[in-house]
Amino acid sequence: MPSSVWTPIALASDLPPRLVIPVSCDGQDLALWRAESGKVQAWNDRCPHRGMRLSHGFVRGEFLSCIYHGWRYDGAGICRKIPAHPDLEPPATIRVNAWSCVEQDGVIWVAPQGAEGEPPAFAGLAPLRSLAVEAAPEEIALACDSANACVLTKGDLTILMQHVGTTAVLHALIAAEADAEARIAASRRLEALRFELEAATKEKVA
Ligand code: FES
Repeated sequence: MPSSVWTPIALASDLPPRLVIPVSCDGQDLALWRAESGKVQAWNDRCPHRGMRLSHGFVRGEFLSCIYHGWRYDGAGICRKIPAHPDLEPPATIRVNAWSCVEQDGVIWVAPQGAEGEPPAFAGLAPLRSLAVEAAPEEIALACDSANACVLTKGDLTILMQHVGTTAVLHALIAAEADAEARIAASRRLEALRFELEAATKEKVA
């Protein structure tokens, strides 16, 4: 999203407690995880020990542990336990690189640490689904009813577009009061949009 430092990275409904998933923001691999308490964190996807991906790790309570040697990191990204040296208090310098992370109106946003401002609010909307689309972000914006740098609209959908290289992931929101039937219909329209865009992209390449 060129006009904002905040990137919509996932829908909150796709990240239940005690889960860690890999995501990507501006070419940077991140481990996105939710603690038992519900707090969400986004960290560089690299363990400070030997570089294992933290997104392969596991969440216990308020800690994320690396799958390789089990180093355990607290919510501030500081290493609190090294299983091979149980009596050692790890130096505070052993810590992961944390990003700013905000969960708002069902959307999880990330920004480089220290970023100013807040992500946009979408009161009255609820998460529908996320969808990867193998088409250029410019083409996706053109296929929508209205667009600005951050937010697209298509019919009854509000779509947050996350640029991923030359393609995009769409995070769709719909009116909070929409019933199951309306949600299914909207989800199908979103899939149809993806189909059209990807078919047009293939035609151009062929
Ligand atoms: S690489 Fe993560 S604990 Fe060793």
